[in-house]
Amino acid sequence: MSKVTIQKLQKMKGQGERISMTTAYDYPTAYFVDKAGIEIILVGDSLAMTVLGLDTTVPVTMEQMIHHIKPVVKGAPNPMIVGDMPFGSYNVSKEQAVANATRLMKEGGCDAVKLEGGKEIAGVVKAVVDAGIPVMGHIGLTPQTISKLGGFKVQGKSTEAAEKLLADARALDEAGAFSIVLECVPEEVGRLITAKVGIPTIGIGGGRYCDGQVLVFHDMVGLFEKFIPKFVKRYVNLGEEVVKALEEFKREVKEGKFPLEEHVFGGVDEEELKRLY
Ligand code: KIV
Repeated sequence: MSKVTIQKLQKMKGQGERISMTTAYDYPTAYFVDKAGIEIILVGDSLAMTVLGLDTTVPVTMEQMIHHIKPVVKGAPNPMIVGDMPFGSYNVSKEQAVANATRLMKEGGCDAVKLEGGKEIAGVVKAVVDAGIPVMGHIGLTPQTISKLGGFKVQGKSTEAAEKLLADARALDEAGAFSIVLECVPEEVGRLITAKVGIPTIGIGGGRYCDGQVLVFHDMVGLFEKFIPKFVKRYVNLGEEVVKALEEFKREVKEGKFPLEEHVFGGVDEEELKRLY
């Protein structure tokens, strides 16, 4: 696979080829996601819950995002790498947003940034795009503003709410975003938005008709057990395998079965050894 570009993603939408995207927050995960041929890696602020043990994405800082983007960029040369702009890093002014998006690209090394919000941030999105930074939008359930939304609920269920989501998606498209994440919306709404905007939509609980799908890596491989949303499919339960391996290691240590001869170093001269004793 060669480096995935905005042009390639747009072509995929045009040809009806679905786009795959997962999160990664470190070098080894990024390496394996790249090896699997996934087109986009999101260094998501979901790292708050999956790797930092926090309750929400709100406390995540620019420094933490840059810290996690860097090893992902090293581990995955082929996928497009999108870095999440953390809460508070783009809501003060266009200047603040451009400065922070520039930091994610310059210091972190990602190819694009993701911002949560619709019409209300279209001006900010345009400013960031005009500064030469590709932007992925994110509408529907936006975890950074979960207090405002009143909890983790499906968005866009009423006609009015669906119309608002469509207007948000169109505003992001017009502002120059290259793609939009649709989180937790009814399948019919995901389908409508996908048909009405020119740029690729990536669903997470957005139904089967989006141009692509994204899952949080830790959810899909069984490394996060606190809660499992309805839209998650667990492809493997690594958590269970890891606990089994650790229990076996512990048992072998206690029973003196690890390490074996093949795991140890020798090579000290017999005479030297006697002298040492
Ligand atoms: O931070 C994240 O992982 C995300 C996905 C849920 C799309 O924004």
